Amino acid sequence: MSMKHIVIAGGSGFIGTALANILHRSGYKVYVLSRKESKDFETYSRIQWDATTIGDWTKYIQSAKAVIQLTGANVGTKRWSEQYKQEILSSRVDSTSLLVSVINTSSTPPEAFISASGVGFYGDSPNSIICDERHINGTDFLANVCFQWENATRNLRKDVRKVIIRIGVVLDPNEGALAKLALPYKFFVGGCLGSGTQMLSWIHREDLVNVFMFALTNSHVEGIYNATAPNPVSMKEFSSTIGRVLHRPSIFPVPSFALRLLLGEMSGIVLLGQNAPPRRLIAEGFQFDYEKIEPAIRNLLQ
Ligand SMILES: NC(=O)c1ccc[n+]([C@@H]2O[C@H](COP(=O)([O-])OP(=O)(O)OC[C@H]3O[C@@H](n4cnc5c(N)ncnc54)[C@H](OP(=O)(O)O)[C@@H]3O)[C@@H](O)[C@H]2O)c1
Repeated sequence: MSMKHIVIAGGSGFIGTALANILHRSGYKVYVLSRKESKDFETYSRIQWDATTIGDWTKYIQSAKAVIQLTGANVGTKRWSEQYKQEILSSRVDSTSLLVSVINTSSTPPEAFISASGVGFYGDSPNSIICDERHINGTDFLANVCFQWENATRNLRKDVRKVIIRIGVVLDPNEGALAKLALPYKFFVGGCLGSGTQMLSWIHREDLVNVFMFALTNSHVEGIYNATAPNPVSMKEFSSTIGRVLHRPSIFPVPSFALRLLLGEMSGIVLLGQNAPPRRLIAEGFQFDYEKIEPAIRNLLQ
């Protein structure tokens, strides 16, 4: 095994595959921990684990340059039954505790442990409240999930550099939030969701992947970082920007009650929001390619 390998737990998904690509191009050997059977791909090798128990996969943790944690049942694809909510929580918290305990008992631990979290940590906050990294956690379900997820890293040994990335809403043309929100516009039935005043702390997928590279390659990067663009926008501005870029009207608003009926508690993903700028990334000199929403959406949708 090469000395310069990276392990991405949960790396087979939306963020992980983009990250594996850039890591591969940068010369790293990438191992992705996945529940699917082991297999080699062009940019990474998939290694099977069950995300709950020790197994053969733990050998890849040894001497890794970094272990990156992205594991978690998707919050945007399925209605949140009580059982699924339990899975959303436990898939993140239990897999994180497992990785931490394997690292803690390793004789050759990785240099860094980089774990995802979300800006959902801050809960639902109005525009006027700036949720930078010092802000306290919210109280809704996803805020509690993020809190417990981050808390599962608290016992990580002190000689491993720890970075927690509170990810914003990741924008990409084919997958994730933008792909879903832009679809009605293509059929001329686009509009704002909910009151429109809720804040959306977004980030272009390319910038997010660069944030992970920044965390990986700078040994001074440590602790909690918001991974969002410097200019969060209201849902109203986000919707009208999609309309403008696609030359489609934004005249079919969907009221909050309809979204709650349609999506249940999951509607919180679009109805709740927070103004969470990347205070630490800016202070530490991270260069964004997409700082403002309109150029980002133009790049993604045109
Ligand atoms: N995308 C966003 O806008 C966003 C925003 C904030 C935070 N995040 C967080 O960042 C992380 C990565 O996001 P993503 O968009 O790349 O997610 P994703 O595409 O859903 O990928 C997550 C991976 O987790 C694994 N997984 C799913 N359910 C699991 C379960 N029950 N037990 C164990 N593993 C499970 C899957 O891998 P296998 O099926 O191969 O095992 C999957 O590929 C997630 O934890 C997410 O909450 C994402």
